[in-house]
This record gives sequence, structure tokens and C-alpha cells, in this order.
Amino acid sequence: MARNVLHADLGDPNADITSHDTYLSGFPHAAFKRFREESPVAWVEEGDDGAGFWAITKHADVIEVSRDYKRFTAARGIRIEEMADDELDARRTLMEFDPPDHTRLRRLVQPGFTPKVVTTYEAAFRRLVGLVLDEVLPLGDFDFVTEIARELPIRMLCRLVGVPEEDSSKLVTWGDQMISNADPEYTPVIIDKVDSDEYRLLPFRSPAALEIFRYAEEIALQRRQYPKDDIITTLLTAEPDGKPLTDLEFKNFFTLMMVAGNETTRHTISHGLIYLHNHPDQVAEWRRDLEAGSEAATEEILRASSVTMHFRRTATEDTEIRGVPITAGDKVVVWYTSANYDTDLLDDPFTLNLKRDPNPHITFGTGRHVCLGAALARLEVRVFFEEFLSRVADFKVGEPDRLRSNFISGIKHLPVKIL
Ligand code: HEM
Repeated sequence: MARNVLHADLGDPNADITSHDTYLSGFPHAAFKRFREESPVAWVEEGDDGAGFWAITKHADVIEVSRDYKRFTAARGIRIEEMADDELDARRTLMEFDPPDHTRLRRLVQPGFTPKVVTTYEAAFRRLVGLVLDEVLPLGDFDFVTEIARELPIRMLCRLVGVPEEDSSKLVTWGDQMISNADPEYTPVIIDKVDSDEYRLLPFRSPAALEIFRYAEEIALQRRQYPKDDIITTLLTAEPDGKPLTDLEFKNFFTLMMVAGNETTRHTISHGLIYLHNHPDQVAEWRRDLEAGSEAATEEILRASSVTMHFRRTATEDTEIRGVPITAGDKVVVWYTSANYDTDLLDDPFTLNLKRDPNPHITFGTGRHVCLGAALARLEVRVFFEEFLSRVADFKVGEPDRLRSNFISGIKHLPVKIL
């Protein structure tokens, strides 16, 4: 691969960006580049019945939509699929509220995730990474995702939220089934191929949500009897509107945190490993002073991987973006990955630069819904690579097996050989 080029193949410029299959060969960068250059506010059809959404692909517009919750509400859903009112009500989490309800709910969990508090988790996470690496690296040849990446964020999250760590494996399995609801490796109820109507009131229309709900009920029962200083107890005892969360609200909140905190960071780590493998010169430079270089390197890995590819809003009024008229009720989808590769943002977005500073990427979104776990994700990516590079002198990666999803840029398997 040419020096410092991030993606050898940018894909088909005419790729269907709605199709889950498109993403099996990676993010369709060429198609999004074409959108940014030719039609940055583009109407994308979803079928033959006139349904569709506005694809917002430029950095400045993603910011404008994300920050203006009055014109672009999250309350009509944050995924491209349209939901009926009963589905929305049953599945509503923190993410599908606008202020002031959103502000009250977010205040419940925010204190556990501030950068200052998250710093106090660093030593524990470093120990966890050390333990896992020391066990797995001697294998020499292994699947990086199942042996390492999949293990780390969930085990940290369990500690933080207050879930026994020995349950982490089943939580990952349920999380995989839910967020990967378009991939046959993880679920028989493939969202765009199988009738999932009987699960329409569950998160991600997934039967796995029943399992995670049952689990959340058990944990709630235990904590009500024996409160602890953890996020679960906070959620159960809080009264954001003068009354406690209902059982369903608690279960949806619990599910959101377990899925959002696990199914994102681990894929970032896997993408990061591929970038490092493809850019040995930059890694050699980073190694000269690992700690000094790791903050900038982490931001560049986060930008380039941009694992959460989009979220959706809905226009509340007739309006316009970049002069393009938008009608009240239209779906407006902000594509973070595209925004991170916008030449209005960076002169050289398709170059990996582990020393990039400043790095104004939008991987964690912006506005009221900006990622709650951003500081935690940053810490996990940084500490992981510091520990990995300090133990491994050289390594090779094989072909990644990618997730079938237009939503999460995931890597299911990644062969690694330690040299
Ligand atoms: C690299 C890893 C991660 C990425 C790329 C990512 C991405 C995002 C993005 C783009 C949003 C904004 C959604 C919107 O505007 O509608 C978001 C929100 C959120 N993230 Fe993350 N996230 C990551 C890690 C985490 C972690 C570790 C947690 C831990 C609990 C987490 C929990 C959440 C929650 C709860 C929200 C909803 C916040 C709200 O609606 O107020 N995320 N994330």
C-alpha cells in the first residue's frame, strides 16, 4: 500500500449506502466522497414507495443538525428504520428524548462518565488489558476479536455499571445479537430478511432483548434489596421527574449502556490494529515515546475508524440545509464517518497521521446527545495500544471479516500473528 494511505480501495462510487451488504467490504468511501462533492444534502430512496431520507455527509452540516434539537428531533427515532408510535414508546431510551426530558435523564448517569471520574478507572483497565494480553499473546496465532477486543470494553463496563464480571460473556453475546441484527452470524432474525414483527416492541427488534431484559430484572431485584455504589443503584433510586424510572425505562437504559459501551470501542481497537499494521513507519515513531504519542494516535484511530456510522433525526418544521428544502417529518441522517473524511475539515483525510493535532473529528457526535462514554472509550483505546505495543515487537494481521451492517462499522474476526 502507498505510504500513509488509509484505505487502499475506496469502493464503488455508486454503492447503495442503505444496503447492509455494501458494508461487508468496508465503508463505501467513494460513494460518500461523491455525495460530499456533488450532493451533500441528498435524498436517498429506501424502496419504491417514496420512503427515504436526507443523507447529510459534510462535517459542518452534521454539526448543524446534531446541535439543533428544536428543528431536528431525536424523539421520532435515531435509526433509519421508521417506527410506529407504540414501538417508539416501548423502545425509547435516553437517545430518543429531546431536552428538557433528555437533560433530566442524562443527569442521572453523567457523573459516572466525566473525564475526571473516568481517569480513576485507568489503573484497573490497564491491569485488565495486561491480564488478557499475557494470557493470549503466547498463543502466537489467534483471532484478535474473539480473544482480545471482544473481552476488554465489556469487562470494564461491567465493573462500572455494577454487573458481575463473570456475566460479561453472555452480555456480549446478547449485545452482538442485538446490534448485529442484520448479520446472519449473530442472529437468525435478520432484520431486512426475516419477519421480525413479533419482536417489534423490543430494542433492535431482537429476541436477545428478552434475555437482557430478564437479566436486568434480576439485577434490579438484587440491587433493590442490597443497594451498592454503582450506576444500576443510581438508576433504580433516582427520581428524574419526581418519580422513579419505570421497569421498562430501567431495562431500556440498562440495555443501551451495555450495548453502546461495548459494541463500539472493541471495533475501534480492531480497526486500530489494522491501521498500525499497515503503517509500520508511524508505529516505529510512536514507539520512541509511547506515552507522549498515544493521545494523538488514539484520536486519529477514532477518526479513521468512526465505528458508529450514522444516527438519524427528524425535521420538526419545513426548513433547509445548505439551501436544500427539507419538509417537516422528513428523516435526516447524519453520517459521522463521511464527515470525518470531509476535505473541508482536513486537507488530507485519507492519510493516516498518528500525530495529527488538532484532530476535530466527530466520531462521538456533538450536541446534547454527544457520546456519554467518549472519555471511557478514549481511555480504553489509548491504554490498550500502550500495553499492546509495549509487549509486541512485531505482528501481522490477516483479512478482516466485517459485520453486515449499515450502522456499525464492525469487525467480527481478525487473524493476528505475533512475530
Ligand atoms: C469508540 C467508541 C464509541 C463511539 C464511536 C460512540 C459513538 C457515539 C455517538 C456518535 C453518539 C451520539 C448519538 C446521537 O447524537 O444521537 C453516542 C451516544 C452515546 N454513547 Fe457512545 N460511542 C462510543 C463509546 C461509548 C461508550 C464506551 C459508552 C459507555 C456507556 C457509550 C454510551 C453512549 C450513550 C449512553 C449515548 C447516548 C447519549 C445521549 O443520548 O445523551 N458510548 N455514542
